[in-house]
Amino acid sequence: MEKEIVLTGDRPTGCLHLGHYIGSLKNRVKLQNTHEQFIMIADWQALTDNAENPDKVKNNVIEVALDYLAVGINPQLSTIFIQSQVTELAELTMYYLNLVTMARLGRNPTVKDEMRQKGYESDVPAGFYMYPVSQAADITAFKAALVPVGEDQLPVIEQTNEIVRKFNSLYGNILVEAKALLSETKRLPGLDGKAKMSKSLNNAIYLSDSSDSLKQKVMSMYTDPNHLRINDPGQVEGNMVFTYLDAFDADQNKVNELKAHYSRGGLGDVALKKHLFEVLDNLLTPIRNKRLELAKDKNEIYKILYDGSIKAKNIAAKTLNKVREAIGIKYL
Ligand code: TRP
Repeated sequence: MEKEIVLTGDRPTGCLHLGHYIGSLKNRVKLQNTHEQFIMIADWQALTDNAENPDKVKNNVIEVALDYLAVGINPQLSTIFIQSQVTELAELTMYYLNLVTMARLGRNPTVKDEMRQKGYESDVPAGFYMYPVSQAADITAFKAALVPVGEDQLPVIEQTNEIVRKFNSLYGNILVEAKALLSETKRLPGLDGKAKMSKSLNNAIYLSDSSDSLKQKVMSMYTDPNHLRINDPGQVEGNMVFTYLDAFDADQNKVNELKAHYSRGGLGDVALKKHLFEVLDNLLTPIRNKRLELAKDKNEIYKILYDGSIKAKNIAAKTLNKVREAIGIKYL
């Protein structure tokens, strides 16, 4: 039987953090054994709100690639590629842009949120406003059935599927609808307890953080502001240390014991945080070490991205050909 196809990706605007890890990297490491997986470094999408800063995007392409390889994405099993090197995706985007309205774009809650966060009002770059359409090109070019992403990406996938249905109804059944694959932990809050871990909110733990930096961040985490003395009963709900233990500690019996102890009083924040630090440092140490090792040979990383991009380009070209034929704009 043919393997089901997976496509996913990240914008290279910084190193990847624990939110990425729990939200989708973990799933991708598993999926590569059972699925045909494409992982895209979305540099075009990163440029939609970084046009004045192309170096930042360029420099982070390699950082994201290092993060992928360090967590265990295996280039023999997954195709890792760079969006901008697959120019076919831009042409697909041109056709799809005609299948959505400005009003529909304006209703996408993910884009709306990001616009608010970035302070865009009417001065939003057009490329940013329409990035869900370009993302529909990414997904459909590979006929992906499954997209492992964080919860915030659901509206983008919904919009992709609307474009697929519209395209197929106009031009014939060429494109495939995709399903999101969400992780168990839907969304990892930041160190400060804010809804989302993110680079721009400055509340993230990176996969590449040193042990010292990790310790410092864990010690600064938001707990229960009313838990002043060790013997006071503390609150588990909304306490980031417990939120993270739920997400990352494999020993959930121990977590339950800690919760009970904290609730009745007698467990201090520092002791609790030391435990979380150990759990996270055990997870991150092998990733960090592998990353340092891989970073010694950047040429090797670029070679992986080059090979992956050639392979991706060939596949996208086939879809593009069918799309041109279906629309009837093959003249030569
Ligand atoms: N929008 C994703 C992000 O915010 C990146 C991305 C671009 C993507 N194209 C994609 C994700 C296609 C999944 C599928 O990081």
